[in-house]
Amino acid sequence: MPVITNIEDLRVLAKKRVPRMFYDYADSGSWTESTYRANESDFQKIKLRQRVAVNMENRSTATTMIGQPVAMPVAIAPTGLTGMQHADGEILGARAAKKFGIPFTLSTMSICSLEDVAAGTDRHPFWFQLYVMKDRAFIESLIDRAKAANCSALVLTLDLQILGQRHKDLKNGLSAPPKPTLATILNLMTKPRWGLGMLGTKRHGFGNIVGHVKGVENMGSLSEWTAKQFDPALNWGDVEWIKKRWGGKLILKGIQDVEDAKLAVNSGADALVVSNHGGRQLDGAMSSISCLPEIVAAVGKQIEVHMDGGIRSGQDALKAIALGAKGTYIGRAFLYGLGAMGEEGVTKALEIIHKELDLTMAFCGRTDIKAVDSSIFVPGTY
Ligand SMILES: Cc1cc2nc3c(=O)[nH]c(=O)nc-3n(C[C@H](O)[C@H](O)[C@H](O)COP(=O)(O)O)c2cc1C
Repeated sequence: MPVITNIEDLRVLAKKRVPRMFYDYADSGSWTESTYRANESDFQKIKLRQRVAVNMENRSTATTMIGQPVAMPVAIAPTGLTGMQHADGEILGARAAKKFGIPFTLSTMSICSLEDVAAGTDRHPFWFQLYVMKDRAFIESLIDRAKAANCSALVLTLDLQILGQRHKDLKNGLSAPPKPTLATILNLMTKPRWGLGMLGTKRHGFGNIVGHVKGVENMGSLSEWTAKQFDPALNWGDVEWIKKRWGGKLILKGIQDVEDAKLAVNSGADALVVSNHGGRQLDGAMSSISCLPEIVAAVGKQIEVHMDGGIRSGQDALKAIALGAKGTYIGRAFLYGLGAMGEEGVTKALEIIHKELDLTMAFCGRTDIKAVDSSIFVPGTY
């Protein structure tokens, strides 16, 4: 077993252990992947100021996101098909997040259902991410199920009215469960741990959907249904309707533009997430971290601003916080931990990020995450 000291180690191990179609699904962006790459590389351009002889005892990374206490301002992002990276992946991720004291967000397109995650975490509150589908009765039932599952925030994703294209997914014939082609079977034979895990669970399809929508009993009819169901007509009127129907904390995810950020404020949401869906939707868009300062300047006093995209270390998370984000999310860093080592791997990913965040804060001469601002940066580098 290799010694795991950073997120890259988890990525390498996940690549070995997770079937190719699901590893590729995580480790890819749309079209040329330029935005996917920029999300990571733009963090490197921001340089930190080292401070010395500052008392660095008694440090704290604890703060709040939408008023909820968090051990560090890093939540787990919603990711579809997580239960295909590792058997029962969403339950394991939610358990690791609960133990660490950070929010876990369940995707609409998860393998484990809302009810599975609630049962698997003794009804500890988690967040639910909603995609708006044309079938409004189904949306209403999902919102009701999220309330019944004790979800403490609804994360409404606005940047997937239509699907960005990822070449690898098309070439790999991505599906859940995988279709038994010769290439897939040969690849699965090299992933015995993954296979054993899958034999031990009954959760192999989209748990929030199969059995809850009339006519969707199996994968064939499901893929047809989802292709038709994502609603290209989604608009701010729908946001208002969903806000009313949900009635709890609402986070709007997928904001990149200042004009949209202002509309998000008008909608009365509790937070917005500066996000380009991890470079999986509009390739050629700016990196998330470079969009953040302008959005914070425009609306940061009126709404809580969160961000995700490209966070692979605690340093990255700290940079986003110093630029004004009140919270961050990790997508791939979480998935790599999960694919590499299940729940233990997610915990490892969170520990790595926490340690890097805490030590970087100390090197910059700060002891409280709540007091970190852009004065930790070298002027002209951010
Ligand atoms: C494999 C994968 C699946 C995703 N599925 C969803 C999803 O179902 N809903 C959603 O709102 N965002 C989804 N996202 C986007 C993430 O929530 C998040 O915005 C992104 O992963 C952040 O970038 P990072 O992976 O670089 O941390 C997905 C991302 C990945 C990598």
